[in-house]
Amino acid sequence: MLSGRTVAVGVSGGIAAYKACELVRWLKARGSAVIVVMTRGAAEFVTPLTFQTLSGNPVVHDLWGDQSPGFDLPQGAARKVGGKVGHVDVAEAADVLVIAPATANLIARLVHGEAPDALTSVALASRSPLIVCPAMDVEMWRNPVTQANVRTLRARGAIVVGPESGPLASGLEGPGRLADIETIGQAVEEALVRRASLEGVRVLVGAGRTEEPIDPVRVLTNRSSGKMGFALAEGARDRGAEVTLVAGPASIDPPERVKRVGVATAAEMEKAMVEASRSAEVVLMAAAVADFRPRRVSTRKVKRDGSLELELEPNPDILARLASMRRKGQVLIGFALETEQGLRRARAKLQEKGVDLIVLNAPGEAIGSDTNRVTLVEARTARRLPVLSKREVAEEILDRALELRAARGGAGRAGRARQVAARTVPTPRARPAAPRRVAARREAR
Ligand code: C5P
Repeated sequence: MLSGRTVAVGVSGGIAAYKACELVRWLKARGSAVIVVMTRGAAEFVTPLTFQTLSGNPVVHDLWGDQSPGFDLPQGAARKVGGKVGHVDVAEAADVLVIAPATANLIARLVHGEAPDALTSVALASRSPLIVCPAMDVEMWRNPVTQANVRTLRARGAIVVGPESGPLASGLEGPGRLADIETIGQAVEEALVRRASLEGVRVLVGAGRTEEPIDPVRVLTNRSSGKMGFALAEGARDRGAEVTLVAGPASIDPPERVKRVGVATAAEMEKAMVEASRSAEVVLMAAAVADFRPRRVSTRKVKRDGSLELELEPNPDILARLASMRRKGQVLIGFALETEQGLRRARAKLQEKGVDLIVLNAPGEAIGSDTNRVTLVEARTARRLPVLSKREVAEEILDRALELRAARGGAGRAGRARQVAARTVPTPRARPAAPRRVAARREAR
């Protein structure tokens, strides 16, 4: 998995910086090219020469120093290096950026997009997966500011590994120790597998709410924010998919680098989804479609004289229609938001609509929130996940979509490679990547 890849290892200024030496050795031993990027604080603990010797590459620690230090890189990465701007070169060349240790200060800088030094500049310029391995004193870790910052990084798609609990350099005991090197190394391997897992696959996402006009100024709609669907689109994009996002109105900006089709009504959404689904290999329908629309739309603003009766007619069930015209091998996943008897209803929906999986969520936990607690409901299984950021939920759904795709023979080379890797990456519990990560995060909380 690591052979022929380039890993940028970011080291910030905590006592655990010395453990990053082991991480570099671990990565090198598995065939990866490594470029170490250090903060000034890190260089107080370990000299750049140590990392240069271990990595076999010049160490980047000075934003103002030599801009083309001549990295020894695999061919693919070497082609991306322009040799003009050091931090941009590293960001372009690296298949993954892992920051270990990540101090509270560095995490705060990442959250705010500050880039005063080489490491934060690489992080800002990078589009590769970001793995953050916090290590700090227990109270710095527990501080609500740090906790909020870590949540923000997770919500943006960063993978946070650790910290672990135990005796700390300060003499205190508790969470704050850098995760062990094997765990960090495995997270790097998983990120690399994931990164290419949807390479070239056409993924269609339906997101946002719909608006059904009553008159020229009023609409019938719901409280959906669009965050879940956007997280799915971002997750699929970052795995190399060609993403089409059919989006109704939403409360946040849509993701960059996806093909976006803007719609307002359910009828418009149906047309766009039907059209795009003809070539899609994975369809994820997270949109909150209005169940009803006014039978008649007034061309003039309705006046407030007396009471108003609106006659409503049902909207088309887009998901059911997509299921009825499903291409061979296409994976189709829908959502269900239920206030009672969730599991029973989700199962019924699975059957009625003819989809592979229903993501069950509840209004209090899902609507508008940055986090979600969902159950992945299939014909014979129901897997309840812990509270996760919507991006993390999206990753779980995408992992499952890949497995479903492979099961029906739709997986391309990347999908099969991912399956093989999931089986062969040695893990403490020999389980696929996703459940283990969730469990690890739960322990970290
Ligand atoms: O039937 P219900 O609205 O509970 O089903 C939810 C699922 O169906 C979601 O995936 C939603 O996007 C989709 N849906 C649809 N068209 C509708 C209503 C819901 O595609 N008119």
